[in-house]
Amino acid sequence: MKIEKIAVLGGGLMGSGIAESAARAGLPAIVRDIDAAAVEAARGRIEKSLGRAVKGGKIDEAEREAVLGRLTLTDDLEQVGEADLVIEAVPENAELKVNILAQVAGYVSEQTLIASNTSSIPIAQLAAGIHRPERVLGLHFFSPVPVMPLVEVVVALDTSAETVAIASEFADRIGKTAIETKDRSGFIVNMLLVPYLMAAVRMYEEEFATAEAIDEGMRLGCGHPMGPLALCDMIGLDVLYSVCDSLYEEFKEPGYAPPPLLKRMVAAGRIGRKSGRGFYDYSAAREGVAA
Ligand code: 3HC
Repeated sequence: MKIEKIAVLGGGLMGSGIAESAARAGLPAIVRDIDAAAVEAARGRIEKSLGRAVKGGKIDEAEREAVLGRLTLTDDLEQVGEADLVIEAVPENAELKVNILAQVAGYVSEQTLIASNTSSIPIAQLAAGIHRPERVLGLHFFSPVPVMPLVEVVVALDTSAETVAIASEFADRIGKTAIETKDRSGFIVNMLLVPYLMAAVRMYEEEFATAEAIDEGMRLGCGHPMGPLALCDMIGLDVLYSVCDSLYEEFKEPGYAPPPLLKRMVAAGRIGRKSGRGFYDYSAAREGVAA
């Protein structure tokens, strides 16, 4: 079986990026979100990202129109029934994910692959309520999805070799490199990345150094494209908080525990770029200034 059409559940930062990447590779993609306002927000994200690609000379106007023509944005869950692969990218909440996947399983065929973009919830838990769990796997993308070339293919207890092969071929087709990982919290990348990011948050929390000094240190001293605190703001502190929580829950290693400052910032709604403020201020007049 070959993936000819995909559906993405959730048109947030990750979901809209996944759908855009597939459509830019020539595949029709359905993006489903909960209501008209969420659907319009997803459309806005994709248009902004495509505008960026046109401006950067990556695609031309005609290609932009063709990509938009391959995308269907809807609040109707039944439409995902047409897809060969459904990728769930709703907020990081196990109950929400289990519920939506159970509903989706009722609309798709028995052959349809069902994937989750979760960064921390066990795929085995999401697969438990789905008939034929051998077609369920994790496909973990990286932000910003249209730019980052990696997908982690998460092989859960029941995931079949055929499912892995089809999903890996799909990743290749949309221009991503697939790496296989077992179904363990954090998979490969977040297990290495998150302790580093949290060490930076603690360093800032202890007032050992300013946000700018920490970020400049890693950019100029180690050649990272972004400093760790700017990266936290881009990923979203709410997302990171739940990733930390789940890593800590699984391994009980102190390095994975979310630092108190992270918890306070999430409680205050200072969750990074998407809220206009995190470790830096992203309001128009103060773009990128330490908050
Ligand atoms: N959406 C779409 N495209 C974007 C974008 C966005 N949000 N941000 C940047 N881009 C594109 C630009 O259009 C540009 O494309 P081009 O080369 O085709 O013109 C390219 O990315 C480079 O952008 P810029 O020149 O404006 O900026 P930079 O050179 O500073 O690069 C970056 C931006 C690609 C975001 C780079 O800073 C980077 O690689 N940062 C690290 C990102 C990272 O580590 N991501 C992983 C996060 S972990 C994760 O997602 C897992 C989760 O589970 C937590």
